[in-house]
Formats: sequence, C-alpha cells, structure tokens
Amino acid sequence: MKLFDVYPLYEVTPVRAKDVYVYDAEGTEYLDLYGGHAVISIGHGHQHYVKRIKEQLDQIGFYSNAIQNPLQQQLADAIGHQSCCHDYQLFLCSSGAEAIENALKLASFHTNKKRIIAFKNAFHGRTSAAVAATDNSKINAPLNQQQAVTFLAFNDTTALENELKKGDVCAVIFEAIQGVGGLDEPSEAFVYDMERLCKQYEACLIADEVQSGFGRSGTFFAYQKYKIEPHIVTMAKGMGNGFPIGGILVHPSIEAQYGMLGTTFGGNHLACVASIAVLEVLEQEKLQARAQELEPYFVAQANNIPELKKIKGRGLMLGLEFDFEVGPLRKTLIYDKKIFTGGSSNKNLLRILPPLTVQKEHIDHFFNCLKEALKEHSN
Ligand SMILES: Cc1ncc(COP(=O)(O)O)c(C=O)c1O
Repeated sequence: MKLFDVYPLYEVTPVRAKDVYVYDAEGTEYLDLYGGHAVISIGHGHQHYVKRIKEQLDQIGFYSNAIQNPLQQQLADAIGHQSCCHDYQLFLCSSGAEAIENALKLASFHTNKKRIIAFKNAFHGRTSAAVAATDNSKINAPLNQQQAVTFLAFNDTTALENELKKGDVCAVIFEAIQGVGGLDEPSEAFVYDMERLCKQYEACLIADEVQSGFGRSGTFFAYQKYKIEPHIVTMAKGMGNGFPIGGILVHPSIEAQYGMLGTTFGGNHLACVASIAVLEVLEQEKLQARAQELEPYFVAQANNIPELKKIKGRGLMLGLEFDFEVGPLRKTLIYDKKIFTGGSSNKNLLRILPPLTVQKEHIDHFFNCLKEALKEHSN
C-alpha cells in the first residue's frame, strides 16, 4: 500500500533522538532547532518522561472516559499550578486541531451564535472549523468554507467592533504569537480591546496556545504577557513532548453540561502521565525561565548577522526574517550543517523552535553555521 502523499519530505530518516539531537541510522547527528514543530518541550527522550510513561504502561494505558481517572485531576492541578489559571476547568483531547474544534464549538454553545472572527495569517489547524478559521484558502475544501468566518487585521479595533456589533459572533480566536503565520503579535492595546469588546458583545475570546503554550514563550501561556482572562485557552504540542495530547482551559463563567464535548482517546492514562511528566520536568529544570533567559542571548547573536532584517517572537519561539526566501538556506542548514529549522507562511522567515533544554553552546553553533550558510548563499 502507498502512503497518501500529502507532505513534501526532507531526505532525513531519524531513528533515535536525545535531548536536542536527532540521529539517523548512520549515526549522523542533527541539532533540532525545530522541535518537531514546537512539540519537543523538555527534550527528546527525557529520562524522567520515558520512565513515567513506561511505568504507566505497566499499570494501565487506556480506558475510555466512562470511568474515574484520577490522573486527569492530577494533570488539571499541575496545569493550574504552573499556569496560575486555577479557576479554569480542563477538557482533554488528543491534538491541536481537536482543541480548537472543541473551543469553537463550546463558544458557539455558550453564546448560541455561530460566526467566528479570526485574524490575517492565522493558523488554527486542518479540520472543520479550525481550518475555516485558518487564513489559507488553499487548505480549505468547499465543506470547510461553509463555516462563517471573518478575517480581520490585528490592531484594527474599529473593524473588530463593527463585526461584533452585528451580534452573531460566537468567538474571537487569536494567537498571542502567530506560529505558522510568521511570529507576528497583536499590540498590547489591541489585546485589551479584544478582551473588552468580547465581554461587551458577549462573544468568547479564545487564546490559541497550541504552539506558544507550556512555557515556550517565556510565560506559561504567551497571552499571559498581558493581564487578560480569555474565555477559552487551547493547548497541545509541547503539552505531551511528542505524546499526542491536547486540551482546552475553560473559564469558570462557562458551565459544563453532559454530552457537550466528548472524545474516546482524550485524557487517557498514558497521555495524562506524559503531560504530568512534562510539567514535572518543566518545573524541576526551570525551563520556562530558561526560555526567557535565552531569548536576549539569541537576539544578541542574531544582531551580529548583517543580512538579518528583523527578529520576531519571544522566548524560544523565534523568527529570523531576511529580505529573501529562506527555503534554500534551510536546505543548506539541514543537509550541510545538520541543523533542523522551521519555515512559515512568510517565505522570508526562518523559525527557531528548539527543545526548551537548548543551551547557549547550541545557539553559538547555530549562528556559526548560519553565517557560513549565508556566505555560501551570497556567492
Ligand atoms: C497555533 C496552532 N493552532 C493549532 C494547530 C493545530 O494543531 P495540530 O496540528 O496538532 O492539529 C497548530 C499546528 O501547527 C498551531 O500552530
């Protein structure tokens, strides 16, 4: 049977990974500054994480959501403790797009409305309403285009209020730092305007933290740079360090009803333990603080690159913008320098999403290689 060919692939076949490195069958070592798309938060194959998952597998790996599973409450407490979102309620699922679907559906149930406001360059996933709220018509099938979504520019408060005034908007969904879109952020004033206007016009404010959450940006959630309380927060990627788990945090003003949301796999024993182990390592190794500390180091190094136009992002969710397309540069970095980096829908932007265990020496190595690669590309 052939694989359904939807991904353009690099010619690299990892068979093993440890901390910030990935290895192929010949033992070639690659520095992972992409984190498998911002997923690897505590480093590949972290000893504590592996031990916790193996031990859980020996006990019970899965049962459906029809029984008591105290690991879900343990995970809720651990997320509450580290995010300080103590009053929020946790619903668990298995991926980022599923978290977004649940967030949008819940917003619609709660407000009894159905139009979504999303932002230019937003990426929220590839399923039903999530892809409809993603600003890329190429990945929206006619089925998805049935959803009522309006895209606005960040920072246009007047346009936002004009749309909300119409009275049919269930949710305003935003990324505090855009991931796939290329690391752009709304202004502080606009973040507060979104919160105020959503309250005024009875729409839910959804913070999509699927990529930026779990410490990557230097705060637990990227929106926490501001003092706002979104109605719903979506999470996935770094939450499981590679184990498929996602979830939403739901503001106490939104009441649960039986049957409103549901899933077979979400919140299973193995997934909960994977995420609990991630939180334990994040706390023990102070990885969120490390993300905050390494940002200025990275930025200082980046400022020594004359070809660089702009540095974007926060913590260890960073983008280097050039005035040329970076596709060929990424190829040189991966094939010649053995470094994984990320791209974005902004073709001129190189994305840096390393495991949060990355060290200064790795950053130094990256910049030495980047300088050489840039020299090769200018010749
Ligand atoms: C901000 C954001 N939201 C949602 C998603 C969708 O997550 P998943 O690919 O796990 O469905 C992504 C994936 O890149 C993302 O970056």
